[in-house]
Amino acid sequence: MLKNLISFKKIPLSNSLLKNKNENINCYDLKISFDEDTKLVSVVDNVSPEKLFPDDYVYDSSQSITMVNHFKDCAEYLQKRFTPYNTLEIGSNSGIFIRHFNPDTTIAVEPCSNFAEITNDMEYKTYDNFWGKDLSELIRQKHGKMDLIFSANTISHIQGLDECLTSVKKCLNEDGIFVVECPSFLEVLKGNAFDQFYHEHQSYFSMISFRNLLEKNGLKLFDIELVPVHGGTYRFFVCNQDSSIDVNYDNINKWEKEEKQFGVDSYDKLKDRMSIMKQNMVDIKNTLQKIKSENKTVIGYGASAKFIQVSNMCDLNASLIDYVIDTTPDKQNKYTPKSKIPIKKYDEKSLENVDYCFLGAWNFSSEIMEKENKFLRSGGKFITHIPKLRVIEL
Ligand code: TYD
Repeated sequence: MLKNLISFKKIPLSNSLLKNKNENINCYDLKISFDEDTKLVSVVDNVSPEKLFPDDYVYDSSQSITMVNHFKDCAEYLQKRFTPYNTLEIGSNSGIFIRHFNPDTTIAVEPCSNFAEITNDMEYKTYDNFWGKDLSELIRQKHGKMDLIFSANTISHIQGLDECLTSVKKCLNEDGIFVVECPSFLEVLKGNAFDQFYHEHQSYFSMISFRNLLEKNGLKLFDIELVPVHGGTYRFFVCNQDSSIDVNYDNINKWEKEEKQFGVDSYDKLKDRMSIMKQNMVDIKNTLQKIKSENKTVIGYGASAKFIQVSNMCDLNASLIDYVIDTTPDKQNKYTPKSKIPIKKYDEKSLENVDYCFLGAWNFSSEIMEKENKFLRSGGKFITHIPKLRVIEL
């Protein structure tokens, strides 16, 4: 049974940046619910995948050194631990992970054709389609079953998880491994990161909910790790239900205990957490209003999807955040949807004459603090809302 957890009225899609300020865009209510049966938190009545992941999708994971290093380390680690002969990646983006694999034995799936073209050009056979029953059957027929199926920040975007997981099972060798990375819902709750709620993020996996879904679809969780990207990411290790692979009960039981203590499987406890997040939203707007009333310059740092969510969920606009800087060329000289905050190109002079930077890309906080040490040393301040509103200064 589905129960409403938190809802937002008229939120634009987080990647629908405006080319000009007066462009009309569609906004959609965002309703997050809790399933009493599987304990899964997810979006209900969502927008269609074709609208969410168009052919000019802007998110490029290769823009961050943290992510480049993360996927290199991850690729090397998985190759060493499991020595797969062949590999399939679901949601390969610009090839940040598969570039460390042999193109002759590696297949990619990426529905956003602007990115699929990049990996096809890199000699990786890339299917530019949505993952599901039809595509998985085609891949199995043409390339056989896989030793390793990897998917980062994609399974949590897919609507229709049962079909998604049974399709994975059909493409997996008897002793094959399915590795999934996605933001940990436990960490979302710990960070009061309400800006992780957006239409593209269909599901918010706790270990408990993900394990329930796997079991429902003939798969088994055999290990779990927490990796420090995207504000805390779970790496789930999955195999066939009847596989002989050893299950790491120590790890799994440890996370189950922590998740239960935190209340990820309890509707009432989750409702309390949502109230804390709502207070976080109010604090952000009040603080920015106060700082602006002192005539300070405030800009955003990183036009992430999360920043766009914050701007709209907290009802911010260019009178509270003058503009936001970003290194991604495709985002520059555009505007955030609905909140209409201009996005400007980042350069080494971007922070001159700036008093406060609101940390839109808070998940890269350490990378940014290191890079902007000069700004901090000259009296500049960062504002972050994770886990609650505070000013970072030296
Ligand atoms: P990211 O958190 O990767 O994704 P999401 O959109 O899922 O929330 O977005 C981070 C954004 O911040 C991305 O557009 C790149 C930008 N960025 C900078 O401009 N400078 C930086 O130093 C870093 C680390 C990121």
